[in-house]
Amino acid sequence: MASEINLVKNISDPETASLSAVEFSSLPFNPERIYWIQDFTSKAVRGNHSHKNLTQVFIMVAGSMHLEIYEGPISRSYEFTRKSTPLIIGPGTWRIMSNASSDAVLLVIADRPYEPEDYIRDWDEYQDWYQKNNRKV
Ligand code: TYD
Repeated sequence: MASEINLVKNISDPETASLSAVEFSSLPFNPERIYWIQDFTSKAVRGNHSHKNLTQVFIMVAGSMHLEIYEGPISRSYEFTRKSTPLIIGPGTWRIMSNASSDAVLLVIADRPYEPEDYIRDWDEYQDWYQKNNRKV
């Protein structure tokens, strides 16, 4: 499952700076972890995995990237920028991040701690897992 979620409050002061805030109470889960990805190289391709249980919110804090989200065999692509509505990305979604600008910063809020065993990093294994778990698109 991947869908947009409006949870960022923007307060812009044209004379100084703009401020963005997320109230954790507006998240559909209790956050356990925050991380961010930055310093993308020009040919970087990241992701290429799914999670079995993890739910995440993706917020593009700066720059832009191409995001491909698969739900089993069906894919959707996003040109993800700091103007984009954040995405909630649930279990069983394969993601590929590419074409990031050099200033791109992707902030991720997650509902579980880092669990290496929660990852599926093999595409065929993912498709099998998706079918077995009968995920609905
Ligand atoms: P990964 O989730 O594969 O990153 P991406 O989706 O950007 O490709 O993680 C990259 C590496 O970082 C991998 O070795 C696992 C490690 N890692 C942690 O140790 N803790 C974390 O919270 C995360 C997200 C990754």
